Formats: sequence, C-alpha cells, structure tokens
Amino acid sequence: TQNRIDISTITDEMVGTEVMFRCRLYHVRNMGVKLVFLIFRQKLSTIQGVMVETPGTIGPLMMHWAEHLRTGSIVLVTGTLKKPEIPVKSASIHNMEVHVSQLKVIVKRQEPVPFSVQEAEMVALDSHQEEGRQSQIPNRTRLSNRIIDLRTTTSQSIFRIQSVIGNLFRSTLDAQGFVEIHSPKLQGAATESGASVFKVDYFGRKAFLAQSPQLAKQMAIASDFERVYEIGAVFRAENSNTHRHLTEFTGLDLEMAIEEHYHEMLDVIDNTLKAIFQGIYKTCRREVDVIKEQFPSDDLVWLEKTPVIPFKDAVQMLTDSGWLNEEGEPVSPLEDLGTRDEIRVGELVKEKYGTDYYVLDKFPRSARPFYTMPDIDDPRYTNSFDIFVRGQEIISGSQRIHDAPMLEDNMRLVGIDPEDMAEYMEGFRWGTPPHGGCGVGLERILFLLLKLGNIRLASMFHRDPKSFPP
Ligand code: ATP
Ligand code: AMO
Repeated sequence: TQNRIDISTITDEMVGTEVMFRCRLYHVRNMGVKLVFLIFRQKLSTIQGVMVETPGTIGPLMMHWAEHLRTGSIVLVTGTLKKPEIPVKSASIHNMEVHVSQLKVIVKRQEPVPFSVQEAEMVALDSHQEEGRQSQIPNRTRLSNRIIDLRTTTSQSIFRIQSVIGNLFRSTLDAQGFVEIHSPKLQGAATESGASVFKVDYFGRKAFLAQSPQLAKQMAIASDFERVYEIGAVFRAENSNTHRHLTEFTGLDLEMAIEEHYHEMLDVIDNTLKAIFQGIYKTCRREVDVIKEQFPSDDLVWLEKTPVIPFKDAVQMLTDSGWLNEEGEPVSPLEDLGTRDEIRVGELVKEKYGTDYYVLDKFPRSARPFYTMPDIDDPRYTNSFDIFVRGQEIISGSQRIHDAPMLEDNMRLVGIDPEDMAEYMEGFRWGTPPHGGCGVGLERILFLLLKLGNIRLASMFHRDPKSFPP
C-alpha cells in the first residue's frame, strides 16, 4: 500500500505530489458547476479537498456520490497537492488543497449526530452549568455529547496540552532524583477529613476511595525514598457544584525530605511549574492559539522570582483596599479566604507585582489539615502555602509534622484517633526525616492557565455531583 501521511506534515514544498491519508470527512459543499469541496480533518489539521468532474476519470455518477457523502464518516483520500487560488489564513486550516482522484469510505457514520462539530461551539456546555452561554440548540449540551465535543480543534488542543503537563511534571522531577510511586486508591482509613470521602464496600468491610495520596506519600518518606511523586486519580465526595470542583480529578503530588526549610520543597514545585508553563508556550504554541480563538485569554504572566506573600500580608492588602467578605465583614487573618476574596487578592497582586502567578505562604492553622507543621515563631500559623494562578488556587503544600507525639496530639485535637491510622503512625514512631510536599490538580492548572472558565472542559469524561452517571 502507498504510504499514508499525516495531514499536519504537509508543507509548501510538497506541491504537485500525490498523497494518501485517512481522515474524517468534516463538511461537503456542492459548488454546482461540476465541482465539490470536501473538508477533511485529522486531529488539529484541516485541509480542503477539491473534486472536479473530469472526463475519463471522475464521472457524473462519482460526483453525485461525493455530493451525498455523509459528513462525519471516515474516508481514505488519494489526491494531488495544489496551492489554493485564494490563500487560506487560519491557524488550523492548511494553505494547500488536495485535488481528489480517489475517495473510499472506510467507516460510514450510522446515526445522525446531535450537533455537528462546527455547531459544537454554539451549544451550551452543560445543562447544570450554563455559564451565561445560552444554547442555540435546546436539550443538547456539549458535555452530554462529549465525543462530538472532543472532536473540535479546541478540545483536541486542550487534551494535547494536558498530556504535555503530565509529561513535563514527570520529566522535571525525574531529573531531580524523584521516584514515581503508585499508591492504592482503596483505603482503610479516611485520608484527611472523614467528611468528604466516598465509601465503598470491601468484602463486607468499610473502605474509602483515597481523597489524596497524602498518607502513602508520607509513608514512602518514612521508608527512606527521600523524593517521590505520583500522578493519579483523586476522589472527593464534596457536593461542590462550582466551576472549579470535580468529584474525581487527576492529582500531581510530590513529597520530599527537607534539610533546613520547607521552602526547599516550595522551590522544587515552583521551578517545576515554570518548566511546565514554558514548555506549553514553546511546544504547544499552535494549540494555545487554537484555544484562544474560542476562549480569549492572555498568555500567563509570571516572574523570574515568584512573589511569596505571607497570608496575613495578603489579608492586610485586602483590608487596606477596603474589602469586605461575603458576610460584609472585614477578612480575618486567622481564617481561610473564600473564593471571592482570593480572586480579589489575585487582582491586588497583579497590580502590585505584575504577575498572574504567586504564592501565599504561612496559612492559619484553622485552615490546614492535622499533619501540617505549625510555625514555631507563631503557632497560630503553619509552614504551609498555596500557589495561585489568576487569583485561584492550583496547589496546596506544607511541611509535615514528623514528630510522632506531636502528630498524635494534633490528630486528637481534630477528633482523629491515631490508632485508626496505625500503619501511617508506625512510620513516625520508627523515625521519619523532616519532610514536606504538595498536590496540584491537573484539570485545575489546565482550565486556569487557558482561561476555559469551567474545569469540566479540562476533564475528558468529567465526574461532578450532578452529572453522574453520564
Ligand atoms: P482545598 O481543597 O485545598 O481547600 P479547593 O480549591 O478545592 O482547595 P475548597 O476549600 O474545597 O478549595 O473550596 C474553596 C472555595 O470554593 C470555598 O471558599 C468556597 O467559596 C468554594 N466552594 C466550595 N464548595 C462550594 C459550593 N458547593 N458552592 C459554592 N462554592 C463552593
Ligand atoms: P488539596 O485538598 O488542596 O490538598 O488539593 C490539592 C489540589 O488539588 C486540586 N483540587 C481539586 N481539583 C478539582 N476538583 C476538586 N474538587 C479539587 N480539590 C482540590 C487543587 C488543589 O490545590 N494532600 C494535600 C496536598 C499536599 O499537601 O500535598 C491536598 O490534597 O488544585
């Protein structure tokens, strides 16, 4: 068989050559005078096909057949590359035409689709989350017809970038001596707080789906692995119907032993994230630009030296600007901020430092889980941080308590019996080095970086409280 090519590899120098490729037939336009335009697409690449009635080769019967081909079918195309009469100016359509000599239907689309790929951009996202966009095609939503929606160039770009984020997280940490681990998602004890875990029946016993790899990551440090990371599923039984919460997401987590200060770990994740952002704007420029056509945004702005702002200074910035929280009260430096407050901090930081990316450090104790190391200079605060992109959280991290009696006291304080987490506790009783770690939501980074407005667009087949079962 003749070599099949990838449409994306077509270059100007290939004018006049005969090519063969398999693709999806995207659109058919009958131009009347013995001429049919066929639009072919593979992933991000689109090329226009031209079929002209030609005595001896393409007869009227074949022209009639081509005009009535079902869009959405998978076809095998053979033809010669020519420059179009009118040059094409688009990020996703080739400035080259294929003059079709043979066309074969490989897989015929059987059922009518609820909306075409072209229409997908006009259809509402989700019946639960209209996000201000009214559906022009009632009762049909993008997220409930996900396969069609995934065929759009926007979705193709989003998931290519998602893949690049995972690969860069992995390769950047591998280069710094980290070991990738795979922790169990079935757990005997609730991970961080009992309230938000899914319960499952485990041969008549109660088990939970891991709310994060937190316990396993720390146990790997107790086991002398020193630097570990994981990319894996995280389950949260929170009934949060927001634009940024899912019930199952992909966590990018790391944990490492520290020598002097938990900022050694903050530096690792900060540099890893910057490597990810740089990598995306370098290797996925085309994807970023395709997404911007549908979701306009500016490239993320970050600084060579990331501002690390103490939590209480951020609260002071809010207070100084006259800001009041949702209850109409001034924000407290000893309680966590709400989403609205965080977004405002993001605006103030952008004004003051000129960056979309920054760290809030030293969160109040009331806002952090039991395993978080208190700040020895002021025990109302902790050695913990969140990293923000455009005013919204992407990462939580902290130094952990490695001293067994101190950890037990802290557990009891929040009503956890240390004996319920016996295996976890053993590591500390047997000696665990000072350590810290953090966790990022893959879908969070993606939707905030690209300003998609809704985390669901960054999850291929999303899970949220309302849309399950799909
Ligand atoms: P973390 O789990 O580390 O706290 P997060 O970004 O998931 O990170 P949450 O603490 O779960 O944050 O929630 C943060 C904010 O999300 C809350 O301040 C709240 O404003 C908002 N939020 C959470 N659940 C809901 C909900 N059901 N409806 C509206 N807003 C919510
Ligand atoms: P936390 O609960 O903050 O911390 O989660 C870490 C990161 O995961 C993402 N995230 C979510 N993404 C989508 N839907 C959700 N419902 C959701 N909840 C959280 C966010 C968040 O920053 N064990 C700690 C991390 C650590 O200290 O190592 C933890 O799980 O991007």
